[in-house]
Amino acid sequence: MENIKEIISKMTLEEKAGMLSGLDFWRTKPVDRLGIASILLSDGPHGLRKPAKLTDYLKIQESIEAVCFPAGCALASSFNKEMMEELGQVIGNECQAEGVAVILGPAVNIKRSPLCGRNFEYLSEDPLVASTMAEAFIRGVQSKNVGTSIKHFLANNQEYRRMTSSSQADERTLREIYLAAFEGAVKKSKPWTVMCSYNRINGVYAAENHEYLTEVLRGEWDFDGFVVSDWGAVNNRVNDLAAGLDLEMPDSNGKNDRLVVEAVKAGILDENIVDRAVERILNIINRFETNRDESAVFDRDKDHEKARAIAEECIVLLKNDNILPLKKEARISFVGDFAEKPRYQGGGSSHINAFKIESALQMAEIFDITYARGFDIEKDSYNQTLAAEAISAAADSAAVVVFAGLPDVYESEGFDRSHMRLPEYQNRLIEELSNVNPNIVVVLHNGSPVEMPWINKVKGVLETYLGGQAVGGAVVRCLFGDINPSGRLAESFPVKLEDNPSYLFYKGEGDIVEYREGIFVGYRYYEKKKMDVLFPFGHGLSYTDFTYSNLQIDKKNAHDTDEITVKVDVTNTGEMKGKEVVQLYVAATDSKVIRPAKELKGFEKIELIPGETGTVSFTLTGRDFAYYNTEIPNWYTESGEYEILIGQSSQDIKLKETLNIISASKIPVKYTLNSTLGDMYETPAGKLILEDVIYNFKKALIGDDDNDAFGEASSLMFTEMIHSMPLRNVVSFGGILDFNDCEKILEKMNNQ
Ligand code: BGC
Repeated sequence: MENIKEIISKMTLEEKAGMLSGLDFWRTKPVDRLGIASILLSDGPHGLRKPAKLTDYLKIQESIEAVCFPAGCALASSFNKEMMEELGQVIGNECQAEGVAVILGPAVNIKRSPLCGRNFEYLSEDPLVASTMAEAFIRGVQSKNVGTSIKHFLANNQEYRRMTSSSQADERTLREIYLAAFEGAVKKSKPWTVMCSYNRINGVYAAENHEYLTEVLRGEWDFDGFVVSDWGAVNNRVNDLAAGLDLEMPDSNGKNDRLVVEAVKAGILDENIVDRAVERILNIINRFETNRDESAVFDRDKDHEKARAIAEECIVLLKNDNILPLKKEARISFVGDFAEKPRYQGGGSSHINAFKIESALQMAEIFDITYARGFDIEKDSYNQTLAAEAISAAADSAAVVVFAGLPDVYESEGFDRSHMRLPEYQNRLIEELSNVNPNIVVVLHNGSPVEMPWINKVKGVLETYLGGQAVGGAVVRCLFGDINPSGRLAESFPVKLEDNPSYLFYKGEGDIVEYREGIFVGYRYYEKKKMDVLFPFGHGLSYTDFTYSNLQIDKKNAHDTDEITVKVDVTNTGEMKGKEVVQLYVAATDSKVIRPAKELKGFEKIELIPGETGTVSFTLTGRDFAYYNTEIPNWYTESGEYEILIGQSSQDIKLKETLNIISASKIPVKYTLNSTLGDMYETPAGKLILEDVIYNFKKALIGDDDNDAFGEASSLMFTEMIHSMPLRNVVSFGGILDFNDCEKILEKMNNQ
């Protein structure tokens, strides 16, 4: 394409408005006379969902045969950034081979509640995990000159009324949790596009939210691609365009294009805004078109192998009472429909037409396996005959592996779950099997946490999430010890749904969804409340053991502008090669504001052979100690003491060190007659200015010998009361100051 600005200058207003919405469901409009190509956007993101025929837009079965990799819930559990980047490269290559310019993902929305129907696509309850894993994926895809569309921006954390609901969250919560899931990825890996969500944020549709689409995304984060609407997210095309929404998808049958033209002609919309959006879209079209890789081949068999390797990296060993790995020669029974037909992906727009599916049953053929179906996944009820068969097979086996999980109808895009339980017939069967055989292993296939009422009756639990089309092979290799599980939970598993911090407010009233738990999402809540969870964030076992030693921080007194290096040694003290996910949390022990007990600020996955020690290194900056202060409004790092915690999960902290941060940033304060004596006295200047005032004030109120007259408790009470009194009270209570004196104090305080 020749110079883009020049092309735009040759376009008619109608052509420009036309560029701002789809040609159809998946393509942008071409302008042949100016050499503008049409590009194809395609769903995924854990594989390609390219429509087979570009006329049957919505039919899931009409997409091309492709490779279904593990879904977001599983991928995040790998905690493996390199793997995520490699997956991106593989998918980017598939896109090049299939002529897909932009893959619609990654999906990074925070898992606010286990009930969100789309949690299976999302990555984590923690913004660092979500944005870091997304960043790696984006880097991988875009290294192949194919775009990504990080979605769904912003605060789209439920499916219920997703197109009209308003996520009501305070700015600190949005910044620290919901925006943060996007921020790192947008800043560091520069996605070609961002997809705005359907919902409103504090009343304003994401599609016409100037604050987030323009001020934050472009102004603060330097985003330079185009914003695309989620399919049908446009509310008012003209307003949305002005707010920063560039491309509307799909088409609106030309209706919205006409509104844009009319608005420009009527002087309501500046034509420069149209040009700006066209330029952003043309830049991306150009980037794709001029970097086509004609040699790219979509090798499905090769990518299937990759899908298995990735699935192996994602499996989380939740529980293991010396049952796993299973002995290869032992007589084992496999129970459950999922052994034959694994649930390996979720329903909705991310659904991939997998070209082949590998089941655990088929992959375990070489072992001595008896299979009993146990239940019929299509029927939501206990099946007496199938259960009886399974129980009798179990009684006769060394161990039983139950392939359990959520059927498709229990979780999907488009609706939320109504509870956090497995189907009752599965819970019942697991209990019954445990009565005839103590050696039960449960393999779970689910996109989001489930309650496990039988947890104390089984010896092992493997969480596969939705592990992609090759999950069967990965599970078998994990069960029999050909690989060592190394996934960790990227979300907490509460004991029961009611424990979740959003439980009381989730789904909201009508369209109003108040995020009243604020920043206390997931482990930020459970840790602060010291609550028992079923499995904590970051948890995952291995067939080997790791020990931690030698935690070193290069600066014990650091400035908030410094880079701080933290190093820790990890040793494989067990007998099998394995991977450990080293987690670094920061605890602000000295803070004056309400903060989580700890927050994840770094993670690294390291592979070690038995006896080997490796050193893991993290770099921290002032931002890692900061909270979002809405008064400045900006990130603010307080001076004071912080703890660096190195753990195997959010609950299992192995090593701890403290450091002191000296912050150069200040929050400007204006003291008034309503400022408390305590707040002023806390500052170095206030101490000098108010020392005598407070002493005399206390004397005026309770006399000289306070200890004798009132006792220690009362003395403390008066001190505390005085500290929480506003300055004006010194005038009205003790009479030791008048308003003129107060003005002088305030002048000194405000000029310090
Ligand atoms: C989903 C998006 C998806 C789009 C296109 C929407 O309903 O929310 O995630 O990319 O459809 O299929």
